[in-house]
Amino acid sequence: MKIQKTLTTTPKALPPSDKLGFGQYFSDHMFVAKYREGQGWYEAKIEPYGPFSVDPGASVFHYGQALFEGMKAFRQQDGKIVFFRPEFNYHRLVEGAERICLQPPPMELFMKAIHELVAVDEKWIPQDPSTSLYLRPTLIGTEAFLGVRPSHETVFYVLLSPVGSYYSEGTKPVRIWTEEKYIRAAPGGLGAVKAGANYAASLKAAYEAKQKGYAQVLWLDVDHEGIEEVGTMNVFFVFDNEIVTPALNGSILAGGTRGAVIDVLKSKNLPIVERRVTITEVIEKLQQGRLKEAFGTGTAAVISPIGTLSYKGKEWVINNNENGPLSTELYKEITSIQRGTAPDRFNWIVPLEKI
Ligand code: COI
Repeated sequence: MKIQKTLTTTPKALPPSDKLGFGQYFSDHMFVAKYREGQGWYEAKIEPYGPFSVDPGASVFHYGQALFEGMKAFRQQDGKIVFFRPEFNYHRLVEGAERICLQPPPMELFMKAIHELVAVDEKWIPQDPSTSLYLRPTLIGTEAFLGVRPSHETVFYVLLSPVGSYYSEGTKPVRIWTEEKYIRAAPGGLGAVKAGANYAASLKAAYEAKQKGYAQVLWLDVDHEGIEEVGTMNVFFVFDNEIVTPALNGSILAGGTRGAVIDVLKSKNLPIVERRVTITEVIEKLQQGRLKEAFGTGTAAVISPIGTLSYKGKEWVINNNENGPLSTELYKEITSIQRGTAPDRFNWIVPLEKI
């Protein structure tokens, strides 16, 4: 399918790369394509970034039929522009679309969209280490009707945002609140897919945690016992003789950086175990001095050490609130492959094709 291009006549000023933060700026252009049952995909366009029109009766507004991806493009040290694991994001989008009854784009359209859009907005890819271009592919149900059933129409769009660190702490350890009242997802629900609804479910707890001085929430399962994830990150714990991350139990998102970290650990023959981890076990190990490090992983957050964990009104400090050796090493391994300063030994990198 050919993508129609309309370029902006009023390009924006590029933001200073030391002030990017996360998701505060959008590039000059966006990609939009439409799908209607019986017609297939049509009107694939790259056009100036801005509001587009969606009927107020659309299912996305009433029943939350929305799904997104988070992925990154980098300007490597030698100037080459690359994507990090775009096929992973495509396949996760397809799985999520199936779960919430949206139409995923064919792989060819998805890849063409990201390559052509990033090529058009190439100057928006920041250069400094610890910056990148974040891509937000999104699917929404756009058919206008009020009965509760899947939309027969989907819009697929992609936004680009130059980003720095997700947390204001940068790569320093973050403070995490263990949530005991609210839950994010339940078995059989949407927790394993990147539905907007999961993030809506997380907002109140995250807001309350922020008011108390925490960067994010550690979610527990329906029994308030099993550790799930940190909403914006998966979590890893380094106990004395094993590295543990909660197994994908159906209500945890299979993060791309989680998978990348597991690949790196396995390649080094380090003892990584995916299993159920409970908050009781983490607190016990903390008390016994056997929790050496804890960190989160995510596309936006990369590798983010956890320096403080609150639980039942008590604050626990992990690794003296310092960056631990394993999270430091993993951060280096993954970001140096992304930046092209280390060989791509896992075949994660896909160069931008300028079509
Ligand atoms: C990501 O890491 O890409 C995420 O989607 C997490 C959050 C920013 C929503």
